[in-house]
Formats: sequence, C-alpha cells, structure tokens
Amino acid sequence: MKYLITGGAGFIGSHVADALVGRGDSVLILDNLSTGNHHNIEHLIGDPLVSFYSGSILDPDLVSSLVSEVDHVIHLAAAVGVFNIVDKPLESLRINLHGTENVLEVSLKSKVPVLIASSSEVYGKNGGGPLDEESDRIVGSPLKSRWSYSEAKAIDESMAYFYYSENGLPVRLVRFFNTVGPRQVGSYGMVVPRFVEAALKGEPLDVYGTGAQSRCFCHVADAVAGLLSVIDSEATIGQVYNIGNNYEVTINELASAVIARLGSSSVISMKSYEDAYGAGFEDMQRRIPDISKIKATTGWAPTRSLETIIDDIAGYLKHAGL
Ligand SMILES: NC(=O)c1ccc[n+]([C@@H]2O[C@H](COP(=O)([O-])OP(=O)(O)OC[C@H]3O[C@@H](n4cnc5c(N)ncnc54)[C@H](O)[C@@H]3O)[C@@H](O)[C@H]2O)c1
Repeated sequence: MKYLITGGAGFIGSHVADALVGRGDSVLILDNLSTGNHHNIEHLIGDPLVSFYSGSILDPDLVSSLVSEVDHVIHLAAAVGVFNIVDKPLESLRINLHGTENVLEVSLKSKVPVLIASSSEVYGKNGGGPLDEESDRIVGSPLKSRWSYSEAKAIDESMAYFYYSENGLPVRLVRFFNTVGPRQVGSYGMVVPRFVEAALKGEPLDVYGTGAQSRCFCHVADAVAGLLSVIDSEATIGQVYNIGNNYEVTINELASAVIARLGSSSVISMKSYEDAYGAGFEDMQRRIPDISKIKATTGWAPTRSLETIIDDIAGYLKHAGL
C-alpha cells in the first residue's frame, strides 16, 4: 500500500511513517515543518519507500498531485498546541478548516480513502466521567481563541462525515486524547515533555491552575497502533473512534511522578492560567476517554504505562542533547 501522510514530519505523523515503513508500505510525507521537524524523519530519508514533500495542505494543486499517487490518505497536518492556537487563531483556523477541506475534496476526486485525525478537544470543557464518542460537546464563546481548535476539529469531523454519507468517500475518524512520547516538543504547551525537560535541567516544573485538573496520557506507540487498527479494518468506515489511555492522573501527580522517576532536584511551581496563557483562559477539569468502541471493533487497547512514557521522553531528550 502507498500512503500519503499529511503532517508526517510531526510528532504522531513521524511515528505513523515509521510503523508503515516497518511493515513494508510506501509513504509520501507532506509537511510544511511549522511544528514538525526534519529531524523526526531524517532516518527515513533515502529509504526507497519514503518521499518527503515540503509544502502546505492549503495548496490544493500540491495536495491533489500527491493524493493521485496513493491508495490511502492519513490526514494529521494541523495547527496544534494551545500556545499556537491562542497566539495565531486566524491562521490556525484556516489550516484546520481549509486544509482539511482540501484534503477531503481531492480525496473524493481521486476516490482515495482518508483517515482524519480529530481530537478530544471536540468535547470542549465536558469534564464528566469517561467520554464516549456520543458524549456532548460543551464549548465556550466562539470569540475565545481557546475554543477555536475545538470548533475547527468538530467542523472537520462533520465535513468528513458528510463526504462519507453524501458522496460515498470512505472516511475514518479518530479522536486522539493526550498523546505523548519521544519527538513531542514542549514549546507549544504540551505538558509532559515540558515537565520532563524541566526535570532533566533541574528547573521548576510550572503547574498551571491548581494542578487538580486530571488528564490521561497515551504513549504514541500505542496511539499509532490504534490508528493502524482503524485503517486496517473495513468495519471502521464512516465511524469515529476515541484513541487514548484511560489511566487518570492529576497534573500535580504528574509533576511529582516526573520528578521522582527522573530523580530530579526540581521543585514544583504554581502558575495561574492567566500568567501562562493570558486573561480569560478556560480549561477542562477532567479528560478521560471511553475506549470501549475501538476495543470492540478492532481489539485495540493501550499497553504502555506512565513510567514508560516518562522514561522514553527522557531518553529521547537526553539523546537529542537537551
Ligand atoms: N498529540 C496529541 O496529543 C494530539 C491530541 C489530539 C489530536 N491530535 C491531532 O493529531 C495530529 C498530529 O498532531 P501532533 O501531536 O503530531 O502535532 P505536530 O505539530 O507534531 O504535527 C502536526 C504536523 O502538521 C504540520 N503542519 C501544520 N500545518 C501544516 C500545513 N499547513 N501544511 C502541511 N503541514 C502542516 C506540522 O509541521 C506538523 O509536522 C493533529 O491533527 C492534531 O490535531 C494530537
């Protein structure tokens, strides 16, 4: 099989590329290297199964020419990270809406199946118990840039679903919950690499808000296995699946776990959301996936622990010289 991975030089995308090449598939990678990095894929460059294209999903001619060459599209390119979304809301919206529309439109013309990466952010501030694929979205004002990522990903899902139901395009949707591991960078607001990097440097770990908010972290290798289980199944067409780990940890517990695991001398320092992200920032208290739907359909479940995640990120950062 030949796949196009948009955002293939990014964190999740580069691991998807590794997994596909590892099983003998060919990959075309399209990435504008905005939050992605050439280092993530440099070990793949030169492999006859891999081609890299520097460019944007906002360029319909480029996307069209690449889609016409492949059997399947995996659409991961997006403007991501809380800092990015809050700082550049308009550009982020354009990429996440028009970019996805381009990918869907050219996939329809070439009749190529497409997987769209969505996010647990679509649930907004629904901080209830485990969230299943039918759980309600609760979002704040559309004028708050914080929610524009959630809005864009939700519209992407609707658009993709209607390309399936109205036009017959084989579409699959996955909602990644917090996904972490090697190659993820902390500079866009991702909490685990930010904590691990600070702990390795002996610097304070900045906990935003009270730290009582909880999250579940899924190792990227588990998330990629989940994604592949979805694209390899015919039963998943026209469906959406949560992909995440359901082990819950508060941000305070995470900070302590990182310090203890790495034997760091760092201290925990508390910072208000306002100081971190500016006035009016809203966050959700809990974020837990219900993953029974994907388990029932493809048999996938995550296997890697929080300790493995911390070890793997620390190993990666040390290797990268940080
Ligand atoms: N990591 C997570 O926890 C998480 C959670 C939910 C959803 N997701 C989704 O998974 C996907 C991958 O995210 P990631 O965590 O790997 O982030 P990432 O930033 O590492 O990957 C996104 C990639 O898209 C590229 N990109 C951005 N704009 C582009 C454009 N206009 N044209 C071409 N390439 C462009 C970036 O350079 C980057 O390589 C995204 O769609 C994201 O919304 C990730």
